Amino acid sequence: MGEDAVSVGIDQIGVYFPRHVLSLDRLAAARHVPEEKIHQGLGCYKMAISAPWEDAVTLGANASARLLAQAQVDPDEIGLLLAATETAVDHAKPVSIFLHDLLGISRNCRVFEIKHACYGGTAGMMVAADWIRSGAARGRKALVVSTDIARYPLRSSAEFTQGAGAAALLLSAQPRLLALDPISGVFAKSVYDFWRPLDKREALVDGKFSVDCYLEALSGAIADYRAALNGASQISAAPFHKQLAALLYHTPFPKMAYKAHLRLLDTEWRRSGMLPTDPAEEAERSYAALVEPWLEAARLVGNIYTASLYLCLAWLAERAAERFEGKRIGLFSYGSGCCAEFFTGTMVPGSAGVAARIGVADLLAARQELTVDEYEQFASDRAEGGTPPAPDGGFCYLAAVREDKRFYERTGVSG
Ligand code: CAA
Repeated sequence: MGEDAVSVGIDQIGVYFPRHVLSLDRLAAARHVPEEKIHQGLGCYKMAISAPWEDAVTLGANASARLLAQAQVDPDEIGLLLAATETAVDHAKPVSIFLHDLLGISRNCRVFEIKHACYGGTAGMMVAADWIRSGAARGRKALVVSTDIARYPLRSSAEFTQGAGAAALLLSAQPRLLALDPISGVFAKSVYDFWRPLDKREALVDGKFSVDCYLEALSGAIADYRAALNGASQISAAPFHKQLAALLYHTPFPKMAYKAHLRLLDTEWRRSGMLPTDPAEEAERSYAALVEPWLEAARLVGNIYTASLYLCLAWLAERAAERFEGKRIGLFSYGSGCCAEFFTGTMVPGSAGVAARIGVADLLAARQELTVDEYEQFASDRAEGGTPPAPDGGFCYLAAVREDKRFYERTGVSG
């Protein structure tokens, strides 16, 4: 596949999520919901909670700052900066231009924000990869930042599927982490499964319908990927789960990835006519080997919308890059509304060294547990801005909002 094309892909990933975390056992007890429903029914255990001094800009800036430090990239090397979010801070001034300023990126950089629910980050990554392949990048790199705060009304059934966080991807030629295959499969259809009117802070969702829309989009994207392959590729007619070393899915809650994998298997079995003798047993075995190990961070952080798929990728890279070096993995991105994309890439030999610096496990270990009262206070507080209590030096936060303008500062940096 694409033997003649320039190798383009993800050079490094930076991840960030809030320091505050709520145990869903505590929330289940407060809402009189059985814990098993949350653990087994949804696959969730904890969710990251944003504080008043955090928003899509601060989460994105902190993820990007980690990335730039880890990858040792000079901000002047970046010629394209895209921010994908469905929790933007202004209807006109994009999150990306705040990031441009906070990260000290060159004036000669194309900067814009992308919105398509949780799919925006993948849309940005594909645009960036094509920009590099086309030659327009002139050797420069692209920074694609997916950053979101997932909020639903208190006491709604979706309340257990919130979260907050960001993933920054550095895209380049000759990437050090994941080389993207040049083909992908897409699916789009206008549906009202999940939306957030302009005057609302919390999202609205038709929960069960959204699950159906996700699965329909997955089938559609896989069919399009197969059509795009057209026989000329290293991906053969054999079912994906027989030739891909891992499958990562957009993970609003981990059980969704399980449902997605069952749909993928069913689609591939039907297409290939290779139905196993015991489909249920084969499905469990395949899920346990290809999907389940990479959901751990999502179980503990919650839904981070645009960044959700890339948190799974960061976790796989951090935990097991060495095992996957030279192997192809599959990724599925879904954004309500809806648009979806199925794509593949190969973990680059030597990527373990790059992946070891991502630091998701360290972020998870450094969190502070909230009580349900504290969480509800954060959730209902409409004040924006404040001073974080003694975080790491260099942490970016929203200091204040004055005359509808947002002012960001860094801890340990005066002025
Ligand atoms: N023990 C074990 N399991 C239990 C249980 C118990 N005591 N009680 C219930 N369950 C199981 C149910 O059987 C069900 O499992 P299945 O789905 O396998 O049937 C599961 O727990 C969920 O229970 P409900 O069906 O009662 O669903 P709910 O009312 O709690 O809502 C939800 C679940 C629809 C996901 C809701 O949390 C929601 O609306 N979340 C937000 C929307 C969302 O994430 N949609 C995903 C697709 S859209 C997308 O991906 C974009 C995005 O990021 C938003």
